[in-house]
Amino acid sequence: MKADKIIFATGNADKMREIQMIMADLGFGIQSMKEAGIDMEIAENGTTFEENAMIKASAIAQELKTRNVQAIVLADDSGLEIDYLDKAPGVYSARYMGEDTPYSVKNANLIKQLEGVPDEKRTARFVCVIAAVFPDGSRYTTRAAIEGRIGYEERGQNGFGYDPIFFLPEYGMYSAELAPEEKNRISHRGKALEEMKRVLKRAAEETI
Ligand code: IMP
Repeated sequence: MKADKIIFATGNADKMREIQMIMADLGFGIQSMKEAGIDMEIAENGTTFEENAMIKASAIAQELKTRNVQAIVLADDSGLEIDYLDKAPGVYSARYMGEDTPYSVKNANLIKQLEGVPDEKRTARFVCVIAAVFPDGSRYTTRAAIEGRIGYEERGQNGFGYDPIFFLPEYGMYSAELAPEEKNRISHRGKALEEMKRVLKRAAEETI
């Protein structure tokens, strides 16, 4: 693996903070797109988390190639699947009701759509796929999910996005009530990144 840095293809500062915490022990510098001096709009027009994550990672890898930069590019795509809504908002989670609509409005709308729906039909999960493109063109994806239920109100001040309505029965808490380290330990993103860390370590060992 001939690369001395990793660039993470996201412009989302909340996600970047979680990613840098989780990847801190990898021994690689992890830069955001902004830190790497890349400013690109990438159309996420895939229909699966895998497709979208790979579209983002490939676009950045292509750009780095033209700049002669040797880096591993990682990208994620994630979202909330609500079973009662046929897995919506899914890959459209960020765009649901409009990208700039506050999450307080999006969350209130989802709770309203589930009005009168009993606990056992409120099942949902956060899904995260991480895609990696290496300088030699090889590609990998990892996927993880965390199961929960849509709550009846918003609770908690931590996290971001849909965390305040995502109830975790095993913990008796909403995702936004978890401490950041705890969320990273159990979350879809935390688990998919841990799996990707194993892929990166294996790739590093193979070239020694
Ligand atoms: P992406 O940037 O296209 O992956 O969009 C992911 C979207 O899914 C975010 O903007 C949130 O709406 C939602 N999402 C993903 N992960 C989380 C999470 O950990 N907590 C809350 N919302 C999340």
